[in-house]
Amino acid sequence: MSGAIKPAQRAPGAARGQGARGLPDERLDRLAAEHLNMKHILQQLSSMAYNFSSLPAEQATKELSSLLEQFDNELLPHEHDDEEQLYPSLVDYLKGDDPLGALSHTHRELFRMIGLLRHMNQQLATQPSNVDLKEIQILLIRLDTLLALHFSLEEELYQTLDLR
Ligand SMILES: [Fe+2]
Repeated sequence: MSGAIKPAQRAPGAARGQGARGLPDERLDRLAAEHLNMKHILQQLSSMAYNFSSLPAEQATKELSSLLEQFDNELLPHEHDDEEQLYPSLVDYLKGDDPLGALSHTHRELFRMIGLLRHMNQQLATQPSNVDLKEIQILLIRLDTLLALHFSLEEELYQTLDLR
């Protein structure tokens, strides 16, 4: 499944990392706004990672479905767009052979973990007695750590491309 993502490639013949080049202001503002608009998802994920297994089963099921819905409607389209549209357009601003390789790896991990969470959510709906809420909580903790790291690495990167 993770093989579907190709590394962001520099166009043939394009210069690599041409020093002090910045992204246009309006693009930087849009990137910042997109992350800001998704902070509520990070907050919800963090709070569920903290107490998920102590929630009553019915509430746990409801909250997990609501989180996945927000992933589907907001987070996943954003992250796919980062990987498929944004990253290839950033490569020429950066030095190194594969400057976005590590960040692309975090995208793949995010997609994998969310797929796993979706599977667990389906099990919770159909065979709740076979599901251990603690196991889901461990996955939520890992996802929370990864997503917070991913956002902060991207924000750090965009700052280096902000010459204002
Ligand atoms: Fe991203």
